[in-house]
Amino acid sequence: MTAPSNSLLQGVDRLLPTYPRADLTIVRGEGARVWDDEGREYLDFGSGIAVVGLGHCHPAPLVAARRQLERLWHASNLYRTESAEELAARISDRFGGAQAFFCNSGAEAIEAALKYARKATGKPGVVALDGSFHGRTLGALSVTGQPAKRTAFAPLVPGVRFVPANDIAALRAAVTENVGLVLLEPILGEGGIHPLDPAFLEVATELPALLCLDEIQTGVGRTGSFFAFEALGIRPDLVALAKSLANGLPIGALLVADHAAGAFAPGDHGSTFGGNPVSCAAASAVVDAVDDELLANVRERGAVLAEGLALLPGVQIVRGRGLLLGGVVEGGAAEVVESCRESGLLILTAGENVVRLAPPLTIGAEEITEALSILGMALRTMRSRIYR
Ligand SMILES: Cc1ncc(COP(=O)(O)O)c(C=O)c1O
Repeated sequence: MTAPSNSLLQGVDRLLPTYPRADLTIVRGEGARVWDDEGREYLDFGSGIAVVGLGHCHPAPLVAARRQLERLWHASNLYRTESAEELAARISDRFGGAQAFFCNSGAEAIEAALKYARKATGKPGVVALDGSFHGRTLGALSVTGQPAKRTAFAPLVPGVRFVPANDIAALRAAVTENVGLVLLEPILGEGGIHPLDPAFLEVATELPALLCLDEIQTGVGRTGSFFAFEALGIRPDLVALAKSLANGLPIGALLVADHAAGAFAPGDHGSTFGGNPVSCAAASAVVDAVDDELLANVRERGAVLAEGLALLPGVQIVRGRGLLLGGVVEGGAAEVVESCRESGLLILTAGENVVRLAPPLTIGAEEITEALSILGMALRTMRSRIYR
């Protein structure tokens, strides 16, 4: 392989090309808007990728993080810190009794869940869903049901079986005696915004294995309740959180319900940066901000956005809940995303033909109208190209 000469390499080439990066350099953000290095404004209906739930530079986590930054950046997990304990207590209250392990990302939260389930049950098998996404580390990739992301990295962790979403008979059959964990996203996010049926989830709670819900994308208010499972009438044993928990500062969390506690002992798991005081202080401010009023906003704005999306030209199906919505479009979703970006709106894909909308939970009515208008224009242009 011929390497480009050093003099030709720019900063962007000095990053490994793991993302199909758009030629857009974001330098500033406030609320639902970001600005590029030329001062151009964009409406951010992706919130990063469902990360800045309160909007960019929200004052509550900003003040909390700044205050913590001036007091203490790091203390080893060999010691207690106020911010990690305060966050764990807050999340436990929301969950109704749980212990937390803090880490730095979603994939790490899944890794913690995989290890916890093995230790708690003594059974190495995992059942996950076709089309699921749980992260890029080898363990998390092993339970990700997307062959295109997995094949180049085989052999992965053995003992994982994938079943189709909402196929109750397949789920029951897959949970054999050596399966210790069933891992499910309440709404498959990267896999195309596919909500799981309450009946499927209920069966998952009855099987002889721990149930971990991956709420990395759906959690912290995104679907209109703090945890997506609250609206589905079930209670899992384990929950993975990350993404919007600290509104953009790195954090992940594995929650273990009190009824499933007791499997980890000192030395079983760890993370140097896990429970970082600054991230935890910001996260506590986020948890406090995701109150009844904000959750009502998510449900109301989400309903308006879903209705508006369904009426746009070429949108065939709308799926999702709250402010995690997917619209199945004709033609390629990536093209629609690009066209929106050129017109000042940032949105996401979720698979090849689904455009994903995940604006900040604080989104207002006017911003929704503006986003639908830009998206409508992009879809009309796309249609006229398809039917030319
Ligand atoms: C449902 C779900 N699980 C896990 C992950 C992995 O999280 P991270 O990229 O923080 O490792 C993601 C990221 O998109 C996700 O959406």
